[in-house]
Amino acid sequence: MSFPILSIKKLNTVFHTPSGDVMALRNLSLEVNKGEVLAIVGESGSGKSTLGFSILRLIENPGEIISGSIVFHSPERDVHILDLSLPQLREFRWVNISMIFQSAMNVLNPIARIEKQFIDTFEAHNIEGDYQERINKYLEIAGLGKQVKKMFPHELSGGMKQRVNIALALSCEPSILIADEPTTALDVVVQKEILSSIMRIKDELNLTVIFITHDLSVASSIADRLAIFYAGRPVEVGSADKILRSPQHPYTTLLLSSVISLNTNREASLKTMGGSPPDLKKRIPGCSFLERCPIGEEACSTYDLFPAKVHGDVFVECIHPGKLEFEMEVNK
Ligand SMILES: Nc1ncnc2c1ncn2[C@@H]1O[C@H](COP(=O)(O)OP(=O)(O)OP(=O)(O)O)[C@@H](O)[C@H]1O
Ligand SMILES: [Mg+2]
Repeated sequence: MSFPILSIKKLNTVFHTPSGDVMALRNLSLEVNKGEVLAIVGESGSGKSTLGFSILRLIENPGEIISGSIVFHSPERDVHILDLSLPQLREFRWVNISMIFQSAMNVLNPIARIEKQFIDTFEAHNIEGDYQERINKYLEIAGLGKQVKKMFPHELSGGMKQRVNIALALSCEPSILIADEPTTALDVVVQKEILSSIMRIKDELNLTVIFITHDLSVASSIADRLAIFYAGRPVEVGSADKILRSPQHPYTTLLLSSVISLNTNREASLKTMGGSPPDLKKRIPGCSFLERCPIGEEACSTYDLFPAKVHGDVFVECIHPGKLEFEMEVNK
C-alpha cells in the first residue's frame, strides 16, 4: 500500500514581470507517496523548479503563490505548509523537506570550509547534539571521507561538490528530498555514480525523493513514478513502468520517441515535436499542448483540464489518451 506524504492541491504560482504575469504553475494538483522516487520531467520553463521552490515556500519577489494548498503528512500531524508562519517555516524546512538546488555546485560558500557550511545549516535549523559526528555520518553516507570537512569548495571536483550538497541536504534528516537536476552539470560517469548514490541513500534512510529532470532517460533509470510536466501542469502522472511502456499523452509519446530515436541512433520514423510551449502570460483555453499536437482537434481548445484515469493509476490530461501512441505503433 502506498500513502501520500505530500498532497498538493490546485496550486497557482505566478511571477509578476514588467511584461505581464507568468503563470508558472497552473492549478496544479499532485500527490507524492511515501518512500517513492517521483520524477518531475519536462522541458525548460515547464515549472519544475518553481514546484520545488513552492513546496518549500522559497518563491521570492517577483514570484508569489497565489492559491492552493500543500500538505505534508507525518504520523503525528498534517502540516499545511502554506499556512505556516515564518518562524514555523524555518523550523519545518530542511528538517522535513530539503532541496538540492539546480545550480547547487555554485551555492557552496567559496570562502568557508565544508565543516562550517554544515554547522551553519545545523544552527539555522536548531539542530542539537554532536555536530562533528553528524557531519562525518552524512559525508560518509554521501560517499565522501571525513577529511573533506576541512576542505574548501575549490579543492573539490564537481562530483565531490555535488556529494557535499547531497550530504548537506540530508544532514537535518528530512523525510523528503527534492533534487533539482542534481546530475545535469556532471559528466556521464559521475552522473551515473551520483544517481546510484541517491538510490542507495534513499533505501538506507527511507527517504522520499522528488527528482527533477529535463531528461526522460535519467528519470526512467531511477523513478518509481513519473509526472510529465507541460506548461505549468503535470499532463501525465503514474507508474514509470506503465508510462514508459505505453505513454498516453501525445506529449509523453513524442518525448519518449525522441529519446528512443536518440538512443538507437535511428532516423525517427515518428512525428517530431515542432513548435514551442505556449506563452504562460496568456490565458490558455483548453489543452496547453494543442498547438504542437499531431492529433489535436477543435474540441481540445475548449477541453476542461480534468485528468482522465487510465490503466488504474495513470492520470492523463487528454481527450484521446493513447491515440497518438496507437497510431504510431500501427504506422511503424
Ligand atoms: N524569478 C523569475 N522571474 C520571472 N519569471 C520566472 C522566474 N522564475 C521562473 N520564471 C518563469 O516561470 C516559468 C517556469 O520556470 P522554471 O524555472 O520553474 O522552469 P523549469 O522547468 O525549472 O526550467 P529549466 O529546465 O530551464 O530549469 C518560466 O516561464 C520562467 O521563465
Ligand atoms: Mg529548473
